[in-house]
Amino acid sequence: MLGNNDNSVNRKDFEGQDLVSNYESNQLEWPDEMRQAILECLKQNESYGVRRRLLLDVGCGAGKLTKVLADDFDHVIGVDVSKSMIENARKTVTNSNVKFELVSDDLLPVESCSTDLVTCGISFHYLNTPVFLAECDRILVDGGILACLVYGPNILTSLDGRPIANYSADSSRWKQVLREFHINCGVNETVREIHVSRYAAIFKSLANPTKRWLHVAKSDRKYTVKKMLDYMSVIAGYRTKKYPEPDKDPINIFRQGLVEILRHAGLDGNDDTEFMVTFEFSAMIIEKKKPFGIA
Ligand SMILES: C[S@@+](CC[C@H](N)C(=O)[O-])C[C@H]1O[C@@H](n2cnc3c(N)ncnc32)[C@H](O)[C@@H]1O
Repeated sequence: MLGNNDNSVNRKDFEGQDLVSNYESNQLEWPDEMRQAILECLKQNESYGVRRRLLLDVGCGAGKLTKVLADDFDHVIGVDVSKSMIENARKTVTNSNVKFELVSDDLLPVESCSTDLVTCGISFHYLNTPVFLAECDRILVDGGILACLVYGPNILTSLDGRPIANYSADSSRWKQVLREFHINCGVNETVREIHVSRYAAIFKSLANPTKRWLHVAKSDRKYTVKKMLDYMSVIAGYRTKKYPEPDKDPINIFRQGLVEILRHAGLDGNDDTEFMVTFEFSAMIIEKKKPFGIA
């Protein structure tokens, strides 16, 4: 699947072994509650003929989400446009029922009416929406489900639980700092938002009456300033561009903003300053159900 619209990713954004290993070690783990909630959605559609035969994970990256669901399906296919991601996924997810394919066009490489679940783990916004949804309609079995997973907004706290910043709060400085980073990296408007609002316009425009959001899980992760900067350096295509002037380098600007926020909360803001980030996980669910009597 190659997105050809404004949202499509520059393929190089996710290339390079150092990027993949950095992304892998700093990327959040998908919580088991999310896995269970998605499986529950499938279960509810068993009367349509949905089973757990085939899962297609689109934009699978290094296979983090693929791995979480791998044991639940007879067959699993992960597809991605990044060669480095696919190579890494093949190394780290070795279940015999799982295969990974490098893709380069708009077609999902599975047969029509063959797939019980399609997942996108923070990858839906890179895809060409109408083409992708038409492909999902083609490949899903009746009652089959498309689950587009995303996380955020997030809350920063000190290790002893004191609030530092909240992405959702009105006029949140943290939100501003995160948005500035994306803008400075040249990311388009759609993907600047980190929460469900990123998909809000698409969600609103969908005619499918089954569309809904699952807001299922929260998860904490400890970061240091350095770890957060490492993570930021592998998103938003930061590494694919050159920033000759240090004061215009998005990471330096981001660091200043983060340090300012941490200091405001009484932390010192050095590279090894630790803080907690709590993320919310959500999934946009769309089911393939045709109204009775309509082809
Ligand atoms: C943010 S990463 C998410 C990786 C993984 N799903 C996870 O949960 O960690 C987004 C992935 O989408 C892939 N991607 C971007 N555009 C794509 C497209 N048009 N078709 C397939 N994969 C794409 C990128 O190469 C990248 O690996």
